[in-house]
Amino acid sequence: MNKITIHGGTRLAGTIKASGAKNAVLPILAATLVGQGESHISHVPHLHDVTTMNQLLAQMGAQLTVDHHSDIYINPDSITDPVAPYETVKTMRASILALGPLVARFGQAKVSLPGGCQIGSRPVDLHIKGLKAMGAEIEVIDGYIHARTKNALGNRLQGNRIVMDKVTVTGTENILIAACLAQGETLIENAAIEPEVVDLAKYLSAMGANIEGIGTSKIYVQGKDSLNGTHHAVMPDRIEIGTFLVAAAMTQGDITITNTSNEDLDAVLDKLTEAGAQIELGENQISLKMNQRPNPVDIYTAPHPAFPTDMQAQFCALNAVADGTSIITENLFENRFMHVEELKRMGADINVEGNRAIIKGVDHLSGAPVTATDLRASASLVIAGLAAQGDTDVHDIHYIDRGYEAIEEKLNQLGAKIIRS
Ligand code: UD1
Repeated sequence: MNKITIHGGTRLAGTIKASGAKNAVLPILAATLVGQGESHISHVPHLHDVTTMNQLLAQMGAQLTVDHHSDIYINPDSITDPVAPYETVKTMRASILALGPLVARFGQAKVSLPGGCQIGSRPVDLHIKGLKAMGAEIEVIDGYIHARTKNALGNRLQGNRIVMDKVTVTGTENILIAACLAQGETLIENAAIEPEVVDLAKYLSAMGANIEGIGTSKIYVQGKDSLNGTHHAVMPDRIEIGTFLVAAAMTQGDITITNTSNEDLDAVLDKLTEAGAQIELGENQISLKMNQRPNPVDIYTAPHPAFPTDMQAQFCALNAVADGTSIITENLFENRFMHVEELKRMGADINVEGNRAIIKGVDHLSGAPVTATDLRASASLVIAGLAAQGDTDVHDIHYIDRGYEAIEEKLNQLGAKIIRS
């Protein structure tokens, strides 16, 4: 079951519901570690990465149950083994999110270095630097980050002023979670303001954390002696929503997505409008209608609220069939144009020069066998396949299950013809 076949050329139409956000649920699951007693996390997307994070927490000794709605109940009080092994971290980089919570709550952590990644080197130096500034002693031995607290405060980290050299999403999240249990005040400057950081901060606040400046680049945290497990419903997945909207635009479709949080999608909706789509925003829902070949749109990726790198590959597919030439500039990750070679197999005319892709729109793409190389690259190939003439086989489709819940069921619900085999 590692391949899907897409019979292209069907216009997407109908209504689907957005799932909970992958990039919010992962830090929230990691943050359950700092609460005493049980947390109940709802609106959890059924994703491979969520299963991996659950396994990681269970391996450490947390009590964990998942009910028939995919809601997760976690009690970390029984943790005995604060370790994230290489085997887990290599399949899911977000395992690094365990580092801050573990050292803050248990005074020690051993987390494998994520190592190389398909979309670039993706270091974690800023996570380590931030925790060191809070008094953690950190050594990297044999590919593992060993962290412990050792100071006059016993097992507590110490609040500090931390200036992030670069805007990093999981780096901000790791330090934010740790700061909630540290002694004294922490100020995180140049913090990430991504909506998923905000969702995490809402969960931490509900646990009793004292956080100010949520959603701004200056976050103040007054550390607490303890936090309590609580309930949190995960925000909608803006990248899943954006991906379905691009798919509808490419197939000149007419779709509505419910359970959306529209304010998180401004940059993507602006680009879809520029491409010629008609967008209507309702309360927690977005409708898109497209009656023309897409106009080419230039894209420049940057931290929120600018255009998200996680939507870059999908717009590459859209621009591949646009009526003209566009330039996509990828500023966050080197080597994030691996989908380009695959799109070219389908007839796209794209030239990559450094971190820019110059895309000359063609009349149509043609179905071809292609291979997924990372999560968002695989999404771009699926939506290209939907708009292409003929059949497209996307191999190594397991990447897509890391971040899209039931993607073929949802697309088939909109009229697509996709089979997994
Ligand atoms: C998160 C998202 C990912 C998204 C990315 C950018 C999760 C689980 N993943 O990844 O989907 O594509 O944000 O929006 O939320 N950097 C350093 N040193 C560090 C950390 C980061 O140099 O210690 C650099 C990275 O190489 C990159 C940039 O900072 O160039 C931003 O990366 P970052 O925001 O950390 O990405 P992730 O949090 O890994």
